[in-house]
Amino acid sequence: MPSLTRFLAFSTVAVSLVGKYSCDCGLIYPAFQGVPASNADPYNFNGTSTDANSIASTAFRVNQKSGASTNAPPNLPAANTTVTAVDGDMVIPVSRRSLSSIRTIDNDISRRTNSDYEQVFGGTGTEFEDRDAAIIGTAYLTYTLVSNSTYNVGDCLSFCDATAGCVFVNLYYEFNNEMLDHVYSQHSNLKCAAYGDVHSAEEKINFGGQSLSGTPDGPLTYVQQSSGWTIKSFGDPSTPEGYDPLPDLGGANEAPGYMGFVFLNKYDVDACAAICNAQDPDDVGGSCKYFNIWRAVVDGVPTTYTCALYYIPADTSTAINYGQGNLTVTQSRGYKRITYVLDGGFEDYTCDGLSFCYTDTTAGWLASSPKDGYYDASIFHYQPYSHSGEAVALLGSATGHDNYPGMLTYGSSLSTEAGVKYVIEFFHSSFYSGREGEVDAFVEVYWNGNLIGTIRPGYSQWKYYKFEVVGQGNDELDFRGGKAPSYDFIDDIFVMQA
Ligand SMILES: *[C@@H]1O[C@H](CO)[C@@H](O)[C@H](O)[C@H]1NC(C)=O
Ligand SMILES: *[C@@H]1O[C@H](CO)[C@@H](O)[C@H](O)[C@H]1NC(C)=O
Ligand SMILES: *[C@@H]1O[C@H](CO)[C@@H](O)[C@H](O)[C@H]1NC(C)=O
Ligand SMILES: *[C@@H]1O[C@H](CO)[C@@H](O)[C@H](O)[C@H]1NC(C)=O
Repeated sequence: MPSLTRFLAFSTVAVSLVGKYSCDCGLIYPAFQGVPASNADPYNFNGTSTDANSIASTAFRVNQKSGASTNAPPNLPAANTTVTAVDGDMVIPVSRRSLSSIRTIDNDISRRTNSDYEQVFGGTGTEFEDRDAAIIGTAYLTYTLVSNSTYNVGDCLSFCDATAGCVFVNLYYEFNNEMLDHVYSQHSNLKCAAYGDVHSAEEKINFGGQSLSGTPDGPLTYVQQSSGWTIKSFGDPSTPEGYDPLPDLGGANEAPGYMGFVFLNKYDVDACAAICNAQDPDDVGGSCKYFNIWRAVVDGVPTTYTCALYYIPADTSTAINYGQGNLTVTQSRGYKRITYVLDGGFEDYTCDGLSFCYTDTTAGWLASSPKDGYYDASIFHYQPYSHSGEAVALLGSATGHDNYPGMLTYGSSLSTEAGVKYVIEFFHSSFYSGREGEVDAFVEVYWNGNLIGTIRPGYSQWKYYKFEVVGQGNDELDFRGGKAPSYDFIDDIFVMQA
């Protein structure tokens, strides 16, 4: 609805009212394309792109490879997902960032049979003097002891089936370990180590050599017949709640709106989503709205799992980082956080080629005034008023007609669900009329008609706000505020699952 005609039609009325609520500061009302009292720094993404070099150099330093240790008992619970590095700094295991809130969902491994597995490499060392080595690799989960009356591949694969996240096992004999020989109830030296990633014979680097026979200067531990087995087909991981998966990315994203990265000890999409949800918002870009998870392979060996965070959803067009030097990007996937508000930036409202127009209705939004009010809420297409892009919503009479608060209503109910926690976030500014003019600036946020938050910032540059709510299902969202000449601008509204 091109409101320019409306604007022209009413401009005489409005002009005749100038001064009624003016602040004696020569204010030109927003409807007349006035110049804001101060100019926000342009919203720009320069220097906010993925720091691929920092990710790579950290990948070369991180060490998150392990295996079944000689002195750990069998059948411990599988290792939880942990963060091994944050933005280039290693995380020391004892002081791990708490991931207790992360629900690691068993990526619905349907029951497998032994025929669902294939051998990756065989073992050597059947003769007395022969030696082999066990895997030291990423995403180690736990191990068990299987009966050594035979070389028991079947029980080892069953153990993988029963271990959440297992896709690979390393089966081997460990000799001269007193705990295996005399202490653990299984009385077997045949170890079956489960991993969340596939490893190769190249990673057989644990030759034993420890003194665990129980007698001083006794024989050292050694390994024989170390074989590796993997599941034949890997499905896609299940999509985390509150996210939509992107089609296959190929490479890792090199995209603006980058918020940093963490390394995970395993490829865990749910953990990466939880980290994105918990990430502190960026002052300019707001909360994390997209993550890119990928597996770093260095010289053919899985090395770490990158979880890169963005406040601007990236897409396949920027998935151009396939690696550098000896580092290869593999299994890159992107997940976009679902926003339940469409056109929260009002960008669908354009002026058919003009740079300035305003309205009280767009496809997604309705701006309304109380009785006798006039344009107390409005939507502008005018870059200088907006936080990002070209368009923005305004609360407070655009023409200076009155000092009533206006109401901005999302035009339809949200596709939200009952009992689910959501965050409402937006950017707000109240600097249009200057320090004196903006003293009464305010915005109230309504969820299903209930007031859930009020801001009274006075004069303010663009600032991020966030409110948490619980859905009732098909929820309604409104903003009320403005008291001309105190003007409240709102832009980039998102409602997302918390
Ligand atoms: C972004 O950086 C480019 C190249 O350095 C520069 O030409 C451009 O003016 C910058 N844009 C903004 C908005 O600062
Ligand atoms: C994994 O995390 C859960 C919940 O925080 C905890 O109870 C459990 O002990 C952890 N398991 C391991 C192996 O650390
Ligand atoms: C089976 O394991 C037990 C305990 O480690 C060991 O004493 C025994 O020699 C092993 N048997 C074979 C055939 O390796
Ligand atoms: C891979 O390359 C990096 C940087 O050139 C180097 O520091 C690292 O040692 C290399 N790693 C391997 C396993 O070759």
